[in-house]
Amino acid sequence: MKLPKFPVDAPFSADQKSWLSGFLAGVKAVQTSTLEDSKQSKDNPDNVLNILFGTQTGNAEGLALETADVAKTYGLDTKVQGLDEVDIKDFQNMKNVIVSIATYGEGEMPDNAELFWKDLVSPEMPKLPEMRFGVLALGDTGYDEFCQAGKLIDMRLEQLGASRIISRQDCDVDYEDIAASWISDAVPKLTNNLSHSDPGEKSTRVRSEWNRKNPFPARLSLNKLLSKNGSGKEIRHYEVDISDSGIEYSAGDVINVLPVNNSTLVSLIIERLDIDPSHIPNGKEQSLEVLLTSYYEISTPGKKLVTYLEEKLNNESLSKVVKNSDKQALSDYLWGKDILDLLNIDPDFHFDVDEFLSNLKPLQHRAYSISSSPKKYPDSVHMTISSVRWLTNNRDHLGVCSTYLADRVNDDQKVKIFMSPNKAFRIPENHETPMIMVGPGTGIAPFRAFLDEREIIGASGQNWLFFGDQTREFDFIYENEFSEKLKKGILTKLDLAFSRDQDEKIYVQDRMLESSAELFRWLEKGAYFYVCGDALRMAKDVDATLRKIIEMEGNMTSEKADAYVNNLKKEKRYLRDVY
Ligand SMILES: Cc1cc2nc3c(=O)[nH]c(=O)nc-3n(C[C@H](O)[C@H](O)[C@H](O)COP(=O)(O)OP(=O)(O)OC[C@H]3O[C@@H](n4cnc5c(N)ncnc54)[C@H](O)[C@@H]3O)c2cc1C
Ligand SMILES: Cc1cc2nc3c(=O)[nH]c(=O)nc-3n(C[C@H](O)[C@H](O)[C@H](O)COP(=O)(O)O)c2cc1C
Repeated sequence: MKLPKFPVDAPFSADQKSWLSGFLAGVKAVQTSTLEDSKQSKDNPDNVLNILFGTQTGNAEGLALETADVAKTYGLDTKVQGLDEVDIKDFQNMKNVIVSIATYGEGEMPDNAELFWKDLVSPEMPKLPEMRFGVLALGDTGYDEFCQAGKLIDMRLEQLGASRIISRQDCDVDYEDIAASWISDAVPKLTNNLSHSDPGEKSTRVRSEWNRKNPFPARLSLNKLLSKNGSGKEIRHYEVDISDSGIEYSAGDVINVLPVNNSTLVSLIIERLDIDPSHIPNGKEQSLEVLLTSYYEISTPGKKLVTYLEEKLNNESLSKVVKNSDKQALSDYLWGKDILDLLNIDPDFHFDVDEFLSNLKPLQHRAYSISSSPKKYPDSVHMTISSVRWLTNNRDHLGVCSTYLADRVNDDQKVKIFMSPNKAFRIPENHETPMIMVGPGTGIAPFRAFLDEREIIGASGQNWLFFGDQTREFDFIYENEFSEKLKKGILTKLDLAFSRDQDEKIYVQDRMLESSAELFRWLEKGAYFYVCGDALRMAKDVDATLRKIIEMEGNMTSEKADAYVNNLKKEKRYLRDVY
């Protein structure tokens, strides 16, 4: 602030001019020191609220950004970072930390938190007596290890001597409200020692109008069988129309579909409960039929329901597997059984409808890796989905969402969708960088999108795809598209592994091993390594093979090969979308 010089004819006396000059100089001094304080506050780690997230499909990141928005209304300086962007040395100096983290696999860290977690549990990790923290854990009570990643981080920070300023909040699938309430408690508690600048800064973050609570009703414009008659699978290609929705997406993102249950199963359950479909259960506003159709999971039994049924039914086999806490035995017992199978363990037992409903889980959306590039298809989103169908107790059993899309969406019905950005799963920014993609089965989905994207932007980087399934004759989905890409030179190499086309089983990881020298050369040239599809077996086998190849071709010990893989992860060149 420049102090004014009063004009000679200003209507002030000499005394007044002198007082005013003094007053304005005082104002300037205060303003300068506030500016300096605020600059100091930005540079000083003590004054920053660090909001760190561990995510796969964006929920935890969304909550981290929401936390930053709340903190800004208090005039606080915030820094939002993925856990893969956090240098452990910088972390050691952080004073105020909120961690928002999802759980994956069977109680594991999401990929972007894996290396951070390794550092955090390392014996070299120093104590953190000056850190104040809070953990927001995301998960799903349908999994045995509910919110395990958040629980582990919370426990480890306490072990390291950091001060837990607010109790950890574990959030189930319906997480939005409970998380928002925790955030509004946590921010003032964690930051009452911080200096606050001007409050009221509004978030400039662009949020989609469409989300889990307000999904976009999209027209299903295409439902086409990809696998051929004779296949052991039914893989379909779907397109939903998003024109006029304002939805934007990127190749690598995930689309979520809110399904509707199959009416035959709804009727059979209502029949088994021996009640009128129009009955309105206590405390509800809709009929039992509507509730079972659109609001509750009625196919896969959840833990709460299984415990309830065990208590009610007094059935020896069920009690044995529930009571002996052998997770594998319980999962084997439940495999293939839906809720109706469990209700029929004792066909004469009469269930109280309200009690039964209170033990069901809310019907959840299903996630699908998008198989289109918006650069090629700006008005539609494509999905590549394997229909889940099996037979148990002489009755057809159907996966809820995959068969909803396959069988039950009529021309006049809309499919409710919303997007989850997967910012970590993208084509390389540098268009010359080579890509190695491993995507057997429906794991091919994002790579179809990546290849279209690279073709359209004219990226010169080489592209190598590993694809496989059971048989070439029936299961080579998108064969024409990939052959075309090979001809055009967009696809540099295509390695196929059809497990049942010969006596011995051949999988994508076997093909990787056959080309180990070349694969290692690509990695050395800076290639990105992507994996999509089955998490339980395929992704683990591919990971083990990748390490083996690096060890062999790089002439390394297994420790060195592990360090090489860790470095790929740090450089965000080893990226996975596995489920
Ligand atoms: C990030 C992400 C991306 C995904 N991308 C894709 C994708 O691109 N394509 C795709 O197809 N899927 C994808 N999935 C999986 C998808 O979300 C669903 O899980 C899948 O479609 C099954 O859902 P559903 O509702 O049809 O079956 P559900 O009703 O959820 O039933 C599935 C359950 O049925 C049982 N079951 C299944 N098969 C059998 C069998 N043969 N015998 C006995 N029991 C059985 C199992 O208990 C299984 O858990 C993705 C998942 C995630 C998390
Ligand atoms: C393949 C897969 C495995 C999961 N495993 C667990 C688990 O073991 N425990 C748990 O509580 N939640 C589990 N979840 C649920 C996620 O943690 C939950 O959906 C979370 O909201 C995802 O957050 P994100 O979008 O930030 O990744 C799993 C979800 C998926 C798709």
